[in-house]
Amino acid sequence: MNLVTGGTGLVGAHLLLHLLQNGEKVKALFRTENSIIKTKKLFNQFNQNDLFHQIEWVEGDVNNIPSLEIAFENISTVYHCAALISFDSKDEALLRKVNIEGTANMVNLALAFGVNSFCYVSSIAALGDLSENETIITEETEWNPEKPHSDYALSKYGAEMEIWRAQQEGLNCVIVNPGVILGSGFWDKGSGEIFTKIANGLPFYTKGSTGFVAVEDVVKIMYILQKENISGERFTIVGENINFHTISFTIAECLKVKRPFFYAKPFFTGLYWRLDWIFAELFFQPRRFSRATAKSLHSTDFYSNKKIKDKLNYSFLPIKEYCSSISSFYSKNG
Ligand SMILES: NC(=O)c1ccc[n+]([C@@H]2O[C@H](COP(=O)([O-])OP(=O)(O)OC[C@H]3O[C@@H](n4cnc5c(N)ncnc54)[C@H](OP(=O)(O)O)[C@@H]3O)[C@@H](O)[C@H]2O)c1
Repeated sequence: MNLVTGGTGLVGAHLLLHLLQNGEKVKALFRTENSIIKTKKLFNQFNQNDLFHQIEWVEGDVNNIPSLEIAFENISTVYHCAALISFDSKDEALLRKVNIEGTANMVNLALAFGVNSFCYVSSIAALGDLSENETIITEETEWNPEKPHSDYALSKYGAEMEIWRAQQEGLNCVIVNPGVILGSGFWDKGSGEIFTKIANGLPFYTKGSTGFVAVEDVVKIMYILQKENISGERFTIVGENINFHTISFTIAECLKVKRPFFYAKPFFTGLYWRLDWIFAELFFQPRRFSRATAKSLHSTDFYSNKKIKDKLNYSFLPIKEYCSSISSFYSKNG
């Protein structure tokens, strides 16, 4: 039996679908009944309502150990996808609690319950920092604590430390480090919001770049890694490195909406995050655009996917074609 955390989020919901399509039995952690509806809608979108009813839902929170103890009964494989994704500096303590302490709780219980294998969804944010003579980030690139990192990146890095600690204590662990994950459903937050923002006429674009990947590739790779008993390693999961303006123009074309037209220079995004901060402070609103987001929109990091491609002889979905296919889902269901 498989246990999936984060099954009411983008990655976990697609993973549940993939596992069930492969005949696996699954338990999924949930926090509120409302959030399960999002997963149900995704299954419905793929005409897989019967599979949805095979999920054994267990109420729980990664910070609530008694609830996790119930979830861990009869589990041989764990896919830990639950996390808080936030670039708001006010969430620093919560990021640590959910992402680091929550992951520590998960691996401690996996050890206590004799789980066979544990797959953790980290992020390219937890990969290392390029030194002067390096040009491409790989799994081996060293993390430099002297360099600035967002609270989110620090929390994912801290969570990875918990995973390696558990590996030392005897748990078979594997880590995937995906880039920005594109996928259908979950259009109102996280990476899914990119489609909604562009559909609603996002005016500006930047010239930074990062790694993008289709959610189907992420979950497929997670499943293969577990099936092939690969452990003690981490893998960058990036389909392609793409400029933000290319991806936003592509999505706009696929959605048949106006392209973002205003090039936001670093000065503009710098001004924008400061105004957003003032607005959030004055009106007790959550931050919509943080300093870390502004910085990432101009960075031009390049990620290598060679390790996973060689290990599994894997071919990633091309991002442009993928955007086109999920745009049609957005137009119908977004
Ligand atoms: N999306 C991306 O572009 C991206 C890129 C790289 C890595 N990742 C990583 O991929 C993983 C999944 O991301 P996602 O995009 O699927 O995120 P998401 O859509 O925001 O989903 C987050 C999931 O985590 C659950 N969760 C949050 N706090 C929890 C807690 N305390 N206890 C139990 N469950 C909790 C949420 O449950 P509720 O529904 O109850 O809130 C939800 O199911 C994360 O580890 C993230 O760091 C994401």
